[in-house]
Amino acid sequence: MPERVEIFEMGPRDGLQNEKRLIPAADKIALVDMLSQAGFWRIEVTSFVSPKWVPQMGDAAQVMAGIRRAPGVRYAVLTPNMKGYEGAKAARAGEVAIFASASEGFSRANLNATIAESLERLAPVAAAARADGIPVRGYVSVVTDCPFDGPTPPASVARIAAALRDMGCYEISLGDTIGQGRPETIDAMLGAVLDELPAHQLAGHYHDTAGRALDNIDASLARGLRVFDAAVGGLGGCPYAPGAAGNVATEKVAAHLAARGFAHGLDMAVIEKAAAFARGLRGNAHV
Ligand code: HMG
Ligand code: MG
Repeated sequence: MPERVEIFEMGPRDGLQNEKRLIPAADKIALVDMLSQAGFWRIEVTSFVSPKWVPQMGDAAQVMAGIRRAPGVRYAVLTPNMKGYEGAKAARAGEVAIFASASEGFSRANLNATIAESLERLAPVAAAARADGIPVRGYVSVVTDCPFDGPTPPASVARIAAALRDMGCYEISLGDTIGQGRPETIDAMLGAVLDELPAHQLAGHYHDTAGRALDNIDASLARGLRVFDAAVGGLGGCPYAPGAAGNVATEKVAAHLAARGFAHGLDMAVIEKAAAFARGLRGNAHV
């Protein structure tokens, strides 16, 4: 039996959040519904963040209300604070994700807070979700390189990952937000994080800006990680990370993992259809 890996689909959230043109909620719903037929266990649908910060995600409640939930699929959303959590809960999110930065520069740009302030703000979100029985995932951003502060010390990533774990996150996704990681820096970062958490509680979230995401996935597989975040069509970027390109494309990761002998359980015909649809949502104004 081939070993199982999981691809966590990010397209509707990380893939679309950076689009300048406001994409109609109906199109986002159609994308999620398509992805629901592909065999994913988890799909990140949207973000309950401030619409002043990320206007594209301003229709989060509408999108969550419009999707057709397939059995066996968990629909995840981002929640940066209690206001976001209340929205997510009302929208019956299957899981919520809290997100913090391993660098002060990116924390300020993305969350308008120091790392310490952001962790303080996230603790009640995690506690409320736990009390409500909603699984909480954690993200650490800029795990190797920060667009503001330069290279990120692996110890900083380990510290934030441990803080999110201590809040009750069942899994920590490690974000190479600007896609500048290299197998050596990913490996060094994982070396530090694995002193705090086992590999089965970690996921790799690699943007493909420099075309090294698959190499970084290989370095992570060697460290025991078996969950990878990706977006159909390779869409995306973070609005507060200058120069960030898309998440590594789901179809690319799936083909790569299959060639390496892993089973991902995805229907590639559906993935290709969803990737084409997602690319069509992109418009020409993309930077
Ligand atoms: P702030 O401006 O300091 O917050 O932003 P505030 O509490 O002062 O609120 C400002 C306004 O926003 C208020 O409205 C709030 O009500 C409203 P006003 O009173 O002025 O009319 N507001 C909200 N509205 C709806 N939902 C909410 C919410 N919160 C406040 N949840 C804040 C602080 C954290 C809110 C802001 O910085 C924010 O929303 N940041 C999120 C940025 C973001 O979404 N970035 C992209 C996702 S992270 C990412 O892509 C990385 C990842 O992919 C991993 C990786 O690649 O590294 C996950
Ligand atoms: Mg990302």
